[in-house]
Amino acid sequence: MADLMGKTVLLTGATNGIGLEAAVTLARMGAKLVMIGRDPKRTESAAADVKRRSGSEQVSWLLCDFASQASIRRLADQFRAQHDRLDLLVDNAGGVHDRRTLTEDGIEATFAVNHLGYFLLTNLLLDLLKKSAPARIVMTASQAHRAATLDFDDLGFEKGYGILKAYNRSKLANVLFTRELAERLKGSGVTVNCLHPGVVATGIWSRAPWFVRPVLGVVAKLFFTSPKKASETITYLAASDEVANVTGGYFEHNREVKPSRLARDPQVAKRLWEVSERLTGLATAPATGNAASA
Ligand SMILES: NC(=O)c1ccc[n+]([C@@H]2O[C@H](COP(=O)([O-])OP(=O)(O)OC[C@H]3O[C@@H](n4cnc5c(N)ncnc54)[C@H](OP(=O)(O)O)[C@@H]3O)[C@@H](O)[C@H]2O)c1
Repeated sequence: MADLMGKTVLLTGATNGIGLEAAVTLARMGAKLVMIGRDPKRTESAAADVKRRSGSEQVSWLLCDFASQASIRRLADQFRAQHDRLDLLVDNAGGVHDRRTLTEDGIEATFAVNHLGYFLLTNLLLDLLKKSAPARIVMTASQAHRAATLDFDDLGFEKGYGILKAYNRSKLANVLFTRELAERLKGSGVTVNCLHPGVVATGIWSRAPWFVRPVLGVVAKLFFTSPKKASETITYLAASDEVANVTGGYFEHNREVKPSRLARDPQVAKRLWEVSERLTGLATAPATGNAASA
């Protein structure tokens, strides 16, 4: 197992599924691990579970609801107050919404949590990552990005929402963000890569429409990857020497593969960056794109 001895690691979506299993491995590798969850009881209990299973005492937790930009900003502030370096950031928290939902910031929730959550937290911690270089960023994307469409005039699906359409778009945004960020981080000593973890038996499927859940339960047991196996691509990108100098990549099963054509379009990635900057208040310059009804 590769070594993360003494490295400071922040992992989101650490309370369940793929993130929880990644947390156990990262703690076993010696990381000083900060697990992020949104519910105090669930997060405390997940951290206790990780300590028990990894045998590490270097596990702590902080709270953040990625559906709230104020909460993301609070997390970044709290993290800075407690840590003066960040060697590895794993953006993994994500989910689906069976009905179109707007966040308190007025943004369609799938896009807000799955993409803008990664975008805002990463940008707020970027100077700490640069200061700690060589450092790494790993983002859990999905092969679902291959089915995505992208309409900058209706990012939030005002004209016809679908649970999968919204999810696919958010995961496309993860790949585009990875590639544009890698360009911007060239020469900084900070790498960024994203991954598809497989089709995995996790809590994410419990939010599927009710009528497909019974079938899904059976299919999941028979064919889906385990969260433990799925977390291996995260921990590979987090720690392996083989990818120490690789950046901007999209990985499946520890192998770099080509993402979709749309995901490889640098103009689209640049435009998404600008829109995301505006939607998160990181830039004041006007950019086109409507992520919600607002
Ligand atoms: N499962 C798959 O087949 C699959 C395939 C491709 C990609 N992925 C990606 O893998 C990542 C992890 O998902 P998973 O499959 O492990 O699902 P999961 O078991 O449902 O875990 C999702 C994690 O994200 C957290 N989360 C969700 N919404 C949040 C919010 N608004 N604020 C803070 N935390 C939030 C959850 O916290 P709570 O415990 O509080 O709910 C949980 O820790 C996601 O990015 C997902 O898109 C999954």
